[in-house]
Amino acid sequence: MLRILSGIKPSGTLHIGNYLGMIRPMVESQKRGQLFCFIANLHSLTTLFDGPRMARNSVDALIDMMALGIDPQRSVFWLQSDVPEVAELTWYLGNVTPMGLLERCHAYKDALAKGVPANHGLFSYPVLMAADILLFQSNIVPVGRDQKQHVEVTRDIAAKFNAAYGEAFTLPEPEIAEAIATIPGVDGQKMSKSYGNTVEIFGDEKATKKKIMGIVTDPTPVEAPKDPDKSVIYSIYKLFAGADKAKTMAERFLSGGYGYGDAKKELFEMLWAYFEPFRNKRKELAGNLDYVDEVRKRGADKAREAAAGTIKKVRELVGVL
Ligand code: ADP
Ligand code: TRP
Repeated sequence: MLRILSGIKPSGTLHIGNYLGMIRPMVESQKRGQLFCFIANLHSLTTLFDGPRMARNSVDALIDMMALGIDPQRSVFWLQSDVPEVAELTWYLGNVTPMGLLERCHAYKDALAKGVPANHGLFSYPVLMAADILLFQSNIVPVGRDQKQHVEVTRDIAAKFNAAYGEAFTLPEPEIAEAIATIPGVDGQKMSKSYGNTVEIFGDEKATKKKIMGIVTDPTPVEAPKDPDKSVIYSIYKLFAGADKAKTMAERFLSGGYGYGDAKKELFEMLWAYFEPFRNKRKELAGNLDYVDEVRKRGADKAREAAAGTIKKVRELVGVL
């Protein structure tokens, strides 16, 4: 069976761009193969230096992903640090990874350009990511465009290891959902935590409404017809509402007499209803942390079992007794 693997960093709060760009495709991939999905807390350590917050974010991320549709019965779902074999494999892989390969990584270069202080963790981030992927012999890795290079680096590292020691790893394929648009934020730029323009999935009602009512618009008067495709309101609406409702909103924009305020209200109502079942599930899980913990432990057991054959073989190949 096709093995699909993806990781998500525990960022604190998820926004609707994360949902459409990565979470929903991941949830849907549970229908076509065996999904291996984990919370990449070790990766977050490269930039977050606050232990209590790190721990809180990790539990929140486990709850969020289950609330949004990761099914721990059907998929293997775990917290990265619960599988220590991944750190061990990172070391073996690091020794067949040329410096130049990591020096060329955009994510690392961008971080440096933004003035993020360089540390060894940030530099070797792609080696840890390669270990995540290769430990489970993954075939397909669905990622955002920004992570494509890291999957290519993973293939290079796997090929180097296989050439040095003999066949140990499957070469994974990145899968980029090109069809999924970049979701704009409330200011019209790409929605991103770092721009402060997000609409949170699990924000409270008042705050969410306020964010949506604050979406930037142009000064076209209420009576005038408006181009829906130039509006952030419609761009977000159509991605969630389905074709029929989107068509109705587009017609209202074009016919005039429909103000941006009305459109924003409609967008809010639709989003609030869309995420209602997920909010309810989240509340239920947050009130049952013993269950969440049990899922986490079972997930770690399943993941370690799936990794056992590979790590054993790799230890033999490299000559670690
Ligand atoms: P942020 O930009 O808010 O820091 P991340 O880089 O943590 O978000 O995003 C995690 C994943 O969520 C990305 O790999 C990408 O697939 C998806 N994603 C983030 N923002 C958007 C967006 N505006 N539109 C579509 N997908 C997005
Ligand atoms: N680096 C990914 C991101 O920032 C998260 C991640 C870590 C990941 N390990 C992975 C994604 C393995 C896919 C496969 O989004």
